Amino acid sequence: MPTSHIPVITIDGPTASGKGTVAHCVAYRLGFHYLDSGALYRLTSLSALRKGVDLSDEHALSKLAGALPCTFEGERVFLGHDDVSVAIRAEEVGNAASKIAGLTAVRQALYGLQLHFRKAPGLVADGRDMGTVIFPHATLKVFLTASVEARAQRRYKQLIDKGFSANMTDLLKDLNERDERDANRTVAPLRPAEGAVILDTSTMAADEAVGRVLEMYAAIKAA
Ligand code: C5P
Repeated sequence: MPTSHIPVITIDGPTASGKGTVAHCVAYRLGFHYLDSGALYRLTSLSALRKGVDLSDEHALSKLAGALPCTFEGERVFLGHDDVSVAIRAEEVGNAASKIAGLTAVRQALYGLQLHFRKAPGLVADGRDMGTVIFPHATLKVFLTASVEARAQRRYKQLIDKGFSANMTDLLKDLNERDERDANRTVAPLRPAEGAVILDTSTMAADEAVGRVLEMYAAIKAA
C-alpha cells in the first residue's frame, strides 16, 4: 500500500530547540502519529552503552540499530520489556547518540524503521534530517531554532524535571559541541531542508510555536 498520499509535517532543529514539545502537541492536535527520531539514536546509544559496544565500531552499532527491540506507547519508550523513557534522556546517552549519529551505516540501519511511522491519517516527525533525507517530499517542513542560551535553559529544566542533576556551564558546553558535530558531519548534517519555514523560538512559548505550525498546515491544506 503506497504511503505517499499520507501527509507528513517535519520539524527539524538543533538540540533543545523545543521541537519535541512542538511536534508532540501538533501531532496531538491533528490526531496524527508522532515520530521522535532522536529517540531511535538514543535507544541505539543506550543499547550500545549497556552492552559495552565501542562507540566507533560502525558495524556492531549498525547491527544494534537494525534490530532495535523498541516499542513506543504514548510517551513511553521500551527497549525489549524495559521502560527506558527516562534512561534515554540522560545527557551521557544523548552525547553518545550524537556521536554514533555521524556513522553512515547506523543512519542507513534506522532509515526503513523511520519510514514505517508514516501511517494514516498523518505523521509529525521531529529530528535533524526529517525534511532533508527521510521525508524530503513532506507536506510542510519546519526548522525550529533558538539561541544557545534559551536552549540550555530548556534542557536544564527538562533534566531537573526528570530527576537528573544538571549544571548550566556543562550544558552550554555540551550543546555547543553537539550542535557543532550535528551541523558539520558529512552524512545528513543538521540544516534547514529546501522549502523549510524557519521559526525562531528563543522568545516564543511552545503554545505559540504550535499555533504557528497548525496555521501553516491549515493554509497548505486550504490551498
Ligand atoms: O533530538 P535528540 O536530542 O533526542 O537526538 C539525539 C541525537 O541524535 C542528536 O544529538 C543527533 O546527533 C542525533 N539525531 C540525528 N538525526 C535525527 C535525530 C537525532 O542525527 N533525525
